[in-house]
Parts: sequence; structure tokens; C-alpha cells
Amino acid sequence: MTYRIVPMTAAYLPQIAALEKRCFPADPWSEELFRDALDNPHTAILLAEGEDGSILGYAVLSVVLDEGNLDNIAVAPEARRQGVADTLLGALIGFGREHLSVLMLEVRASNTPAIALYEKHGFAAVGRRKNYYDAPKEDAILMTLEFANGTEAVK
Ligand SMILES: CC(C)(COP(=O)(O)OP(=O)(O)OC[C@H]1O[C@@H](n2cnc3c(N)ncnc32)[C@H](O)[C@@H]1OP(=O)(O)O)[C@@H](O)C(=O)NCCC(=O)NCCS
Repeated sequence: MTYRIVPMTAAYLPQIAALEKRCFPADPWSEELFRDALDNPHTAILLAEGEDGSILGYAVLSVVLDEGNLDNIAVAPEARRQGVADTLLGALIGFGREHLSVLMLEVRASNTPAIALYEKHGFAAVGRRKNYYDAPKEDAILMTLEFANGTEAVK
């Protein structure tokens, strides 16, 4: 499977919102939420675009000072288990290594594939938020990946 990593533009909004609905049928981000993220200077959205222009996956990172939060990552069901999320997350971690002290995320406690993805990339579980998610109600696992270039490292 051939794809390339490209930055999000407004032209992709309908396609991303449609893919989001397939990946998170119970509580998808709306197209407006993706537009807000696109317009936010502290947020970056990366896409994996297939040869035919279809979007295979996306990842959303927001940054406050030297802290990053992985707000969203998803891959089209038919494109899973082929390294697309590895590539998207790897790109964000590469940015984090250069510019951030920590990357954080929340994940549903039952989301075994996502937790395995994050652990593979070095994230560690550091906490649990009770009943964080709705539809269905579920705890979030809070995970972080720390980088050596944070303020802590130079103290
Ligand atoms: C989680 C998700 C993004 C993974 O995307 P993907 O492109 O299939 O993942 P990759 O092929 O890059 O796999 C990378 C690693 O993730 C883990 N992984 C991915 N899918 C997995 C599965 N079904 N079971 C166990 N581990 C899995 C593995 O560690 C894998 O590494 P490996 O192939 O060396 O074993 C995808 O399943 C998805 O979109 N899920 C629905 C949306 C979602 O839950 N997003 C996360 C919200 S916090």
C-alpha cells in the first residue's frame, strides 16, 4: 500500500468528517470541530493520503507551550494493520522530540489496539480518569511520552 503524509487543508474536511464517523460511530468529531482544529494555530493535523487521493488516516496534535496532546488518531478500517498509524504517530513523535517536553493522550480503557500502538511507541500509562467518556460511559487511561529536551531535563 502506497501513501504519503500530507498536512490537512480545508478541501479534505468532508472526507475527514466522513472517515471520523466510520471510525468513531458513537461520538464522532463534527466537521466543524475539524475546521476549528484546522484554523487553530496551536493544532496540527496530518493525513495519510493514498495514491488515488483517498484519506487512509489522520492524526491531530495540539500544543500548549512545550506540551503536546494527541487529540485524535484514526485509520480507515480497510487500511488498518499496515503501519499507517505507526507512520502518523511516528511523525508527531519526531516533532515532539525536536520541540516538546511531553506528549499526552487519553484513550478508552477497552481500546486494546490503540493502547498497544501507544505502548509500542513508548507511551506509559500514568493515570485514569473515571467515566471520562460517554456512549458508552468508560474510564480514560492517561498516557504520556516524555522527551529529553523538556525544562525538567536541564534543571
Ligand atoms: C488504533 C488505530 C489507529 C491503529 O491504526 P493502524 O494503522 O491499524 O495501526 P498500525 O498498523 O500502524 O499498527 C501499529 C501498532 O499498533 C498496534 N495495533 C494496531 N492494531 C492493533 C490490533 N488490532 N490489535 C493489537 N495491536 C494493534 C500494534 O502494536 C501495531 O504494531 P505491530 O503491527 O508491529 O504489531 C486503528 O485501529 C483505529 O483507527 N482505531 C479506531 C480509532 C481509534 O480507536 N483511535 C484511537 C483513539 S485514542
